[in-house]
Amino acid sequence: MWEFGAVLFSFIYFLIHVAIESSQIQTDLDKGYFWHVTDLHYDDSYGKSGQSCGFPVSNPGPFGNGSCDSPLRLIEDSIMTMAKIKPDVDFILWTGDNAAHIPTSEFSLKRNLYMIQTTTSAIKRKFPGTLVIPSYGNHDFFPADYTNGTETAFYDTVCRIWSSWIKDPEQMLTCRRGGFYSRLVSPKLRVLAVNTVLYLIENPKSRNLTDPSAQFEWLEETLTAAREAGEKVIVSAHVPPTIPSPSVFHWFYPQYQGRYVELMTRFSDVIVAHHYAHEHSDTFKILQRNDETGASPVFLAPSVTPLRGTKPSGEQFAHRNPGVRLVQYDRQTGRHLGYQQFYTNITEDNNLGKSKWDELYSFTNAYDVPDMSVSSLRKIYHKMAKPFGAFILQYCSFYSVTSTPDDVCTLEEQAAFWCGGQLTDLNKTNECINRYMKQDQNVL
Ligand SMILES: *[C@@H]1O[C@H](CO)[C@@H](O)[C@H](O)[C@H]1NC(C)=O
Ligand SMILES: *[C@@H]1O[C@H](CO)[C@@H](O)[C@H](O)[C@H]1NC(C)=O
Ligand SMILES: *[C@@H]1O[C@H](CO)[C@@H](O)[C@H](O)[C@H]1NC(C)=O
Ligand SMILES: *[C@@H]1O[C@H](CO)[C@@H](O)[C@H](O)[C@H]1NC(C)=O
Ligand SMILES: *[C@@H]1O[C@H](CO)[C@@H](O)[C@H](O)[C@H]1NC(C)=O
Ligand SMILES: [Zn+2]
Ligand SMILES: [Zn+2]
Repeated sequence: MWEFGAVLFSFIYFLIHVAIESSQIQTDLDKGYFWHVTDLHYDDSYGKSGQSCGFPVSNPGPFGNGSCDSPLRLIEDSIMTMAKIKPDVDFILWTGDNAAHIPTSEFSLKRNLYMIQTTTSAIKRKFPGTLVIPSYGNHDFFPADYTNGTETAFYDTVCRIWSSWIKDPEQMLTCRRGGFYSRLVSPKLRVLAVNTVLYLIENPKSRNLTDPSAQFEWLEETLTAAREAGEKVIVSAHVPPTIPSPSVFHWFYPQYQGRYVELMTRFSDVIVAHHYAHEHSDTFKILQRNDETGASPVFLAPSVTPLRGTKPSGEQFAHRNPGVRLVQYDRQTGRHLGYQQFYTNITEDNNLGKSKWDELYSFTNAYDVPDMSVSSLRKIYHKMAKPFGAFILQYCSFYSVTSTPDDVCTLEEQAAFWCGGQLTDLNKTNECINRYMKQDQNVL
């Protein structure tokens, strides 16, 4: 009897063990990866006239310089690094800005297209069989920012350059009509490549319109169809609808800002995540209504170009290290499981004469959360509510893609990061900043 009991026990134990193991195998099979790379900003005059540098830089260094856009070497090195770390990803999100910051008077459409062609080829060479999902940045248009969606010849040319990835005739049609399309990346997961340059406040051509290229109409139709088909959606675009903290303003014209947020919050049951760029910085935010309903997680990936931006005060930020991001997700549900942020320090690379890419951090480890969901972001924001606490200082430091921040994050910046990361209304954000600065914990 004893013996039978022992055998039965070990048999049950065996069954449980098998069940656990097969469920682990099941989980492993669903796990997929994608890269997010952005803002390559290729300057073909780097090291010569250095037109993106703004002022003459005598000895800019082979891997890049914080005062200039990217040399080809940095671009190729970044993409080679991605291919070395993880060549077999399911797809690559590539969110635009391929041309350098060169004044229009010294620049041309032909050269602008040449830069897009060059970056496209660089990616194709290292990821020949991989699906790449490009979207338009404001520095893909000539002149930069200028589009109302009717520049048929331009859209046609660029969509053709990307046609081996976009392929589907229906998607090529909307790409030509205004630079947007959608792409199924697994049976129940769709990526929407959105052209938010049409809404950008620096774009003089879309100021008086209501729905350029009928992209809003298309977004609503596509999101509705996705919902009905039981699909989940990843939104991928260049200019974000969120507040660019530490500054407090909107990138979109008012008539687009409200409508975009309304639409995206209404479809938060379908949207698993948004991935944007444009700010050349690393941040994450929660896109939601004022009452915290309709929430979805938003991630901004840092640029490859090390070119700095300016602070609200007009003072220049220290240079950004180039970064590329590897995201882990569940292919069946689209749930984002975590990401690794990679970077290289170009000051050191220039001294060594070779690059040394490293992991800067892993999202789930650095912030101690199980995944990239809204509920994880809420936990992080809860911990960031404490001024000068470890979590808000961590966020500030990763913002500049560095492990050795040379800037202290001021209380005002911390407040703007915290409030601008959870609100889209400007007045509410400013009120929230005042409360945070007074260290009131009941801020939202
Ligand atoms: C950028 O160029 C300037 C001028 O040559 C140099 O002083 C600086 O160290 C360079 N920065 C980097 C990151 O290479
Ligand atoms: C778009 O801009 C062009 C000029 O570049 C103008 O002729 C056209 O009417 C504009 N279309 C819309 C819809 O604004
Ligand atoms: C938009 O409207 C303003 C004011 O009516 C006008 O001055 C401007 O030229 C318009 N812009 C475009 C691109 O149509
Ligand atoms: C790059 O490395 C140097 C030397 O290790 C360090 O002083 C500097 O702060 C780093 N720069 C950035 C932007 O991380
Ligand atoms: C936001 O604040 C500005 C200036 O204080 C005010 O003019 C505006 O009406 C406010 N907007 C809302 C929606 O409350
Ligand atoms: Zn950019
Ligand atoms: Zn941009």
